[in-house]
Amino acid sequence: MENNTCPSGECPGKDGGQTRREFIGKAWWAAAGLFTIEAAGGMVASLWPKLKEGAFGGKAKIASLEEARAMPVGTVTYFAEQRLYLSRVEAGLLALYRKCTHVGCVVPWLADDPSEDHLADKGRFNCPCHGGIFDRYGLVHAGPPSRPLDIFPISIEDGELVVDTGNAVQRSGFDESQVTKV
Ligand code: FES
Repeated sequence: MENNTCPSGECPGKDGGQTRREFIGKAWWAAAGLFTIEAAGGMVASLWPKLKEGAFGGKAKIASLEEARAMPVGTVTYFAEQRLYLSRVEAGLLALYRKCTHVGCVVPWLADDPSEDHLADKGRFNCPCHGGIFDRYGLVHAGPPSRPLDIFPISIEDGELVVDTGNAVQRSGFDESQVTKV
């Protein structure tokens, strides 16, 4: 019968290869090497000017003015990297933060669910955590969230739609001053 116990932690491999101690030693050095590379990379990245436009937490160029104007009323477009939905309502555009205002779950857009607004027959946001439901304006229709989805300020710069994803704005309802006209 084969003996599977190796109390010393020195079991040789079946092919007579490295012992467990040798393997652990190599794995440790590999992990240490990776950590060093990552740390160095992080330092370089933090010293380098932020060339990448559009990451979450800062200003993001998400569309051209032309593209924005071509969006039909009722359209909801997801920008995953920027963690927002661009919602085209009658008066213009809203940039809705995808984070639920209850306890912060990511709220998906369900295009085939019944609509909660008059802009289209279908489509609403359903929070999977506790059943919060929001319409295209980000207004609450069901569930525990006590306020609408937060919005990000939108500006138009050099013909581009720029969303400030570092500046989520809380609100208690919807009014047209929240919309960016295009
Ligand atoms: S986190 Fe969305 S309903 Fe609770």
